[in-house]
Amino acid sequence: SVARKLLVGGNWKSHGSLKFVKNFANDTLNKIVYDTSKVEIVIAPVSIHLKDAQEHIANNIHISAQNSSAFEDGAYTGEISASQLANFGIGWTILGHSERRHILGESNTFVASKVKIADEYGLNTIACIGETLDQREAGDTIKVCTDQLDAIRAQVDDWSRIVIAYEPVWAIGTGKTATSEQAQEVHEQIRAWLNENISEEAANNTRILYGGSVNAGNADELIQNPDIDGFLVGGASLKPEFESIVKACN
Ligand code: G3P
Repeated sequence: SVARKLLVGGNWKSHGSLKFVKNFANDTLNKIVYDTSKVEIVIAPVSIHLKDAQEHIANNIHISAQNSSAFEDGAYTGEISASQLANFGIGWTILGHSERRHILGESNTFVASKVKIADEYGLNTIACIGETLDQREAGDTIKVCTDQLDAIRAQVDDWSRIVIAYEPVWAIGTGKTATSEQAQEVHEQIRAWLNENISEEAANNTRILYGGSVNAGNADELIQNPDIDGFLVGGASLKPEFESIVKACN
C-alpha cells in the first residue's frame, strides 16, 4: 500500500473557553511527542478562539476553522470567508460536517461551493461525508457518500489539498463506533471512487479519516485498516486521551 502521512483532527465543535484553550494547549497538546513525518495534527476550535489557539497551541499543530463561507467577502451576515481565514493565517477548514448538513441544512451543492472557494484560497479542507442510520439500513451508504463526493467533484478539480473524513452520522457523539469492517469497507469504496473519478494519484495520496466516537480504546484497532489514514475526533479531542489517539497513529 502507499505510504500516506496520517492525520488526526480534533473538532472541538461548539466547546471550549479562552481558559480551556490555554490550559489544554499547555497541559496536553504541546506535550504530545509524535513523529511529524508520520502524522500531522489539526485542531479546530470555535472561530472566536482561533487567535488564542494560534497563540497557545504549538508543537507543529495546525489550527483549523470548523466552517467557512461559500462566498467571497461581502454581504453574507455571520459568514467568515476563506479569504479572511487565509489572511488570518489559518490554513485549514472543516466543511460538510453532518451537523451542518442535517441541523443547518447545508446541501451537497452548497458544501461543494465551500470546498471550491476554500481550495481557490489555498486552504486545506477536511471534507466530511457520511450516511444516517436510516440510509445505512436501507443499503444506501455508498450511494450517499458518492453523491456527496460527486457534488464536490463537479466544482473542484485539484484534490491535492482535500482530506476526506468519513463520519457515519449514527456514530457521531453516540459512543457507537463503526467496526473496523464497516469503516474499512466504506473507506475502500471512497478510495475506489477517487481512482475512478479523480485520478490514481488522488486515490493514492488522499487521506481518508474515520470519525464517529473515536477514543483511546478503539483508535489502535481502527488505524490498522489499510484505508483508514487517521481520525476526525470530536468529544475525545477535548480530553487528555487525545494524546493516545495521536500515539495510535505514530
Ligand atoms: O467531526 C468529528 C465528530 O463528528 C465526531 O464526534 O464526538 O463522535 O468523536 P465524536
